[in-house]
Amino acid sequence: MCGIIGVIQSKGAVAPFLHQALKRLEYRGYDSVGVTTIAEGKLHTKKDEGKIEEVHRKLNLDDLPGTVGIGHTRWATHGMPSIYNAHPHFDCSHTIAVVHNGVVDNFLELKEELQSRGHKFESETDTEVIPHLIEEFMDGGLSLPDAVREVTRRIRGTYAIVAMTARSPDKIVCTRDGNPLVIGRRDGASYVSSDIPAFLPMTNNMILLLDGEIAILTADDVEIRKLSDGSIVTREAITISWTADQAQKGGYPHFMLKEIHEQPEAIRNTLRIRKDVFDSAAKIVASSRRVFMTAMGTSGHAALAGRHMFASFAGILPSFELASDFPDTVYDTLTTDDCVIAITQSGETSDTIFAVKHAKRLGAKVIAITNVVGSSVTRFADRIIITQAGPEIGVAATKTFMVQLTALALLALATGMLTQYRSREFIEAKYASLNTLPNIVSETIVRNEEVARQAAEKYYNRASFLFLGRGISIATALEGALKLKEISYNHAEGYSAGESKHGPIALVEDGFPVVFVAPNDATRDRLIGNIMEMKARGASILAVIERGDGDLKHLADDVFEIPEGVEPEFSTMAFVVPLQILSYYMATRRGHDPDKPRNLAKSVTVL
Ligand code: F6R
Repeated sequence: MCGIIGVIQSKGAVAPFLHQALKRLEYRGYDSVGVTTIAEGKLHTKKDEGKIEEVHRKLNLDDLPGTVGIGHTRWATHGMPSIYNAHPHFDCSHTIAVVHNGVVDNFLELKEELQSRGHKFESETDTEVIPHLIEEFMDGGLSLPDAVREVTRRIRGTYAIVAMTARSPDKIVCTRDGNPLVIGRRDGASYVSSDIPAFLPMTNNMILLLDGEIAILTADDVEIRKLSDGSIVTREAITISWTADQAQKGGYPHFMLKEIHEQPEAIRNTLRIRKDVFDSAAKIVASSRRVFMTAMGTSGHAALAGRHMFASFAGILPSFELASDFPDTVYDTLTTDDCVIAITQSGETSDTIFAVKHAKRLGAKVIAITNVVGSSVTRFADRIIITQAGPEIGVAATKTFMVQLTALALLALATGMLTQYRSREFIEAKYASLNTLPNIVSETIVRNEEVARQAAEKYYNRASFLFLGRGISIATALEGALKLKEISYNHAEGYSAGESKHGPIALVEDGFPVVFVAPNDATRDRLIGNIMEMKARGASILAVIERGDGDLKHLADDVFEIPEGVEPEFSTMAFVVPLQILSYYMATRRGHDPDKPRNLAKSVTVL
């Protein structure tokens, strides 16, 4: 939610880099954009409502002087998308500029207080109180870092803040509490951003900034201090393995399609994670009194599929609770004997962090599965599993879902080894089968891309869809429906096929599209019964089936075929793929940008 960037370099115009960096952050929000630089003792700004390239065509964002600057791409919380509400925001003298990600909960009272002292506001945002507060502290004699530190004592809420001033143009100051910020370093330049891909073309040397810390960036150095007592924090830079190319479209029309195609490689890389990472987390799961899983959205669907893996391999059935409702469902029943597996690709989802903090407060152990090194969730976790999808830019999660499933499979198998619920041979055979998934997913993509494009052509203007499955395929159906609705805006509901006849079937009339997820597992025959019920009411049947399943092929109007031999516990990894591709083509056929669905952002950092 909102992408922020700050750069200070010893030479060279900073504006073209800010513009490119914002494009790499656009997945975090895209309703307005702005950049401010400092040159000749003044701030220079271009900002407006709209996506980055629209605003660039109008204003030429590259045409700003100076070697230091900040930028922002916005996902509106307080105030409509407009030129006035676009960041950066300023103080009264227009010498201090601030970009912010998060929410200042007490902004109304601060705003009234500042207005009563004569401050003039230009926007409806919560952010604007920050530069005005900095102004007061600097007018009172404080330096920019000290003023920012004082501001953090006045504001309540969550924030990542980057500030600079024409009064001392040799530095950028940033701080965070609850929202992400990472720092990049190379010779003659320092960077700060909401996410690593923003500065990846310049450096892969990253320094983490933690909640409650403030960093002062100059072109030659980065100094980190604790907000509480001002003491210096020494922290080594981490070299990250992501490459700049991974954060480009690489010839694909959209990131989403590229990321769907990257899934086999992402699974392969996740299968290479050291075994002891899973063994150590598995010890916690195997020895816990109760096991919970928590997550949101697509990550929640990974958890729902993951439960089946734990049940089948380890004889443990974890409870799943949505992170947003975790404390209100689990109450204080957690103890030090329980564990919570938190799944979040970004590691920054506020709901998931909220759940994890609740679990930690009650003393439960936390295992975090995330795709981002150093993300917020890792700081609360007893064990951390970093999946290997590389950067995912498309807002709709695809390859990160795939690696979450891979990591859950590896964790469930490692737990199974400890609980001995199954024989060693059984577990080893499942490991071997998991290793075939990259090829199965590759083949699934190749076989289904054109089929899915044609199905999208046929169904793109249908108003509503049902996605049905049984057992583990309920998770697949839920994910298929989520993908479709979030990027194509067709209404879609994922449901248990068994439950569908207890209500949703009332929706079905001639030509109503019902998508069945139909692997050749123990649920198949009962699912055929559900297909018959829907057909009898005139539904158009789309089915994802195992290749060679003649009966199902015969029953369906449109089929997506998956290579034979996928183990039931891994079926989501293969059977979801045609549904991802279908939603991609439905979105493009309907003229929507699948990478930037309306009202959504890649990481949701508000509760
Ligand atoms: C859907 C999607 C979202 C996320 C959800 C959780 O395609 O991407 O539903 O899965 O916002 O995000 P993370 O995994 O970052 O916690």
